[in-house]
Amino acid sequence: MHSDAAAPAADLAPSQVPEHIAIIMDGNGRWAKAQGLERLHGHRAGAESVRRTVEACRKLGVRYLTLFAFSTENWKRNKSEVDGLMMLFAHHLRSELDELLKNGVRLLAVGDLQKLPQETRELLEQNVAATADQSALTLILAVSYGGREEIVHAAKELALKVQRGELEAEDITTEHLASSLWTAGIPDPDLLIRTSGEERISNFLLWQLAYSEIVVVPENWPEFTEEILERCIRDYSRRERRFGLTSEQLTES
Ligand code: FPP
Repeated sequence: MHSDAAAPAADLAPSQVPEHIAIIMDGNGRWAKAQGLERLHGHRAGAESVRRTVEACRKLGVRYLTLFAFSTENWKRNKSEVDGLMMLFAHHLRSELDELLKNGVRLLAVGDLQKLPQETRELLEQNVAATADQSALTLILAVSYGGREEIVHAAKELALKVQRGELEAEDITTEHLASSLWTAGIPDPDLLIRTSGEERISNFLLWQLAYSEIVVVPENWPEFTEEILERCIRDYSRRERRFGLTSEQLTES
């Protein structure tokens, strides 16, 4: 990660910057294909975009960044691509730990981590433990992650509490469900960015994105830059977030 002080974002006021950005990093395969390269080259280039984006978010004062790195459905891809991605995650977890520590980045992971190869899971857990005291930016990697699976996991947890007599079924609130999700304690994303022009949620953070603003950019993930991120934030900052209220109600409160 570099820390040059060139500040193209000087016109972005801190109040315009979302507290939590979530990103569906799409288009690695298409980018690679367009260059006549194997899909794995696209993922490698995508990892460089991850590094640039973490650094840019930290500089801009974003507090939480959630990246969709591997979905529940991605397990169905060719074994060579899945193995390659797992090795790539392991490689970056090893090589980036110092940078995370140097830059005050806390790492968290959400998803069905038991499904990961042992080495990748252990490195992830080690980095999560090693960065637990950092506070400049919380980087949340969604790996082996599915929104529906996460809600099922939360429902089972609540059902067990009811079974044990710790909670009455009729007393269950949205807060109970939110605090049983893998993302418990993390504020909901303010802004969802998806690259490569696709206008879908694809089983990402189904509960948490209820009131997030969505920005879709045409560029593939390996082409994602600080400038594109700033464009997304400017777009977000022009939106009026009403959370189901009217404009008039918002100005009254
Ligand atoms: C989507 O592109 C991307 C993925 C499934 C993997 C994301 C992984 C990275 C960016 C690599 C490194 C990440 C970290 C955290 C080090 P796609 O393959 O679905 O592209 P396509 O839709 O063009 O086929």
